[in-house]
Amino acid sequence: MITRQLCHTLDVSDPLAPLRELFDLPEGIVYLDGNSLGALPRSTAARVAQVVQDQWGTGLIGSWNHAGWMDLPQRVGDKIARLVGAGPGELIAVDSTSVNLYKALHSAVRLARLQHLERDPQAGARRLVIVSEASNFPTDLYIAQSVARETGATVLALDADAIRPWLAAHALPRPGVPGRDLPPRATLDYDLAAVLLLTQVNYRSGRQHDMGALTAAAHAAGALTVWDLAHSAGAVPVDLKGADADLAVGCGYKYLNGGPGAPAFIWAHPRITATLHAQGLSQPLTGWIGHAAPFEFGPDYRPAAGIAGFQCGTPPVLALAALDCGVDTVLAAEEQGGMAALRAKSVELAELFISLLESRCAGAGLTVISPRDPGERGSQVSIACELDEGCAYPITQALIARGVVGDFRSPDVLRFGFTPLYTRFVDVYDAVEQLRQVLVSGEWREPRFAVRAQVT
Ligand SMILES: Cc1ncc(COP(=O)(O)O)c(C=O)c1O
Repeated sequence: MITRQLCHTLDVSDPLAPLRELFDLPEGIVYLDGNSLGALPRSTAARVAQVVQDQWGTGLIGSWNHAGWMDLPQRVGDKIARLVGAGPGELIAVDSTSVNLYKALHSAVRLARLQHLERDPQAGARRLVIVSEASNFPTDLYIAQSVARETGATVLALDADAIRPWLAAHALPRPGVPGRDLPPRATLDYDLAAVLLLTQVNYRSGRQHDMGALTAAAHAAGALTVWDLAHSAGAVPVDLKGADADLAVGCGYKYLNGGPGAPAFIWAHPRITATLHAQGLSQPLTGWIGHAAPFEFGPDYRPAAGIAGFQCGTPPVLALAALDCGVDTVLAAEEQGGMAALRAKSVELAELFISLLESRCAGAGLTVISPRDPGERGSQVSIACELDEGCAYPITQALIARGVVGDFRSPDVLRFGFTPLYTRFVDVYDAVEQLRQVLVSGEWREPRFAVRAQVT
C-alpha cells in the first residue's frame, strides 16, 4: 500500500528535490498546473527589478547596447535550444506561440510548394494540404486556417491515429525504391502533403506523438514538419535535430517558468533558414528587427540570415529577463542529469498519481484518458469524470478551494501537470486525497463551484 510516509521517503531520497528551492511557492498549495503557468522562480523578481532600476532607470537607452538587450532573444534562445536538441544560433525567444506558428507555418507551406515543384513541375495542379490533428490546440488550427487561405492550401485535421496512414498513403515515389507512382495529373483530387503541423504533447489528453517517426513519414510524403512544443519544452526530452524536424515553436510560460505571457520561441533547422535565404524568401511578418540591417533604416525589406530573420519587432526586454530566469531553473537540473532526470521523475510522479487514483478513488467515476504507457504521455495526466455531465469544472474548483491547483479543459476534462522541478511525491499523495474527499463529500456540487471564471 502506498502511504504518505512512503511518499515522504521518496522525497527525502530524490536527488532533484533541492530544485524546489529555486521557486517561490505559496505555503499550503499543491501546484499541479505548471503545464499552464509555471511557478515563480525565486530569482525573477530581483532580476526584473535590476533590469528596471539599473539597466532601464540608470542606463536608459544606452542599455540596448551596454546591457545586451538586443541579443537577449538569441541568448535566451540558445539556452532553450539546449533543452530541445537544437544548436546554438538556431532558436530564438520571440513573440507568442501563436505568432510564431504563423511565421513557421507560412514559411513551411511556401518551401514545400517549391520542393514539390522542383520534383514535379506538374505539382502545381494538385492541392497542397496542411495536415494536422483534429484535437490539436485551437490556436494551431486557427492559424493553419489563415495560412491555408493566404497560400491556397487546404487544412486537413485528422484523428491522431489516422495521421500516419494518411501520410503513408501520400508518400511520394522515390528513385530506386519500388512504390506507387503518382496518379495522373488529371486526377485533381490527389492531394500533396505540404506541412505536418502537430503539437507533440496534446494539451487535453497529454498524448505524446513520436516526433521522429512522424517527421520521417511527413518527409516521405514531401511535407515539412512544424512541431508545437508548448507542452514539451522543459517537460519531456526533445531532440529536434535527431528527429530531423524542420521547424518548431514553443511556449515560455508553461514548463519554462517564464511568467504570464512570457515570450515564446521558434526554431528552424539550418537547412530551412538556408533555403529560405537562398530562395530570397522570408517569413511573412517582415518587421524591421528581422531585417539584415535594421539600423540602416532602408526602404526595402532584406531578411537577416538564419533564425534572426524570424524576429519581427522590438524585443520585450523585461519579459525576456523573466524568461531567462525561468529557463535557468530547468537548466539547473543539468548537473543531476538534465531533461532525462526530470523526465524520469515526471514519469514517477504521474505513475504514482495514477496508482493512487486507482486505489483511493476506485468506483468514483474517474477514468484516466491519458495514455497509460508513460512513453506515449507527456508530463500531465488527464481524467474524465462520469459522475455528472459537466462535473469536471466544479470538481476542479472544489479542489482549488482545498489548495490543490489543477485545471479544467473543455468539454469535461480534469488536467494535472507534474513539474518535476518543484512537485514532491507527498504533493501527489495529498492531491489524490483531497480529490477523494471532494468526491466523497459531494462538496463539488455546491453552486459556488459551478460559477465559470473568464479563464478556466
Ligand atoms: C499547444 C499550444 N499551442 C499554442 C498555445 C497558445 O500559445 P499563445 O497563447 O502563447 O500564443 C497554447 C496555449 O496554451 C498551447 O497549449
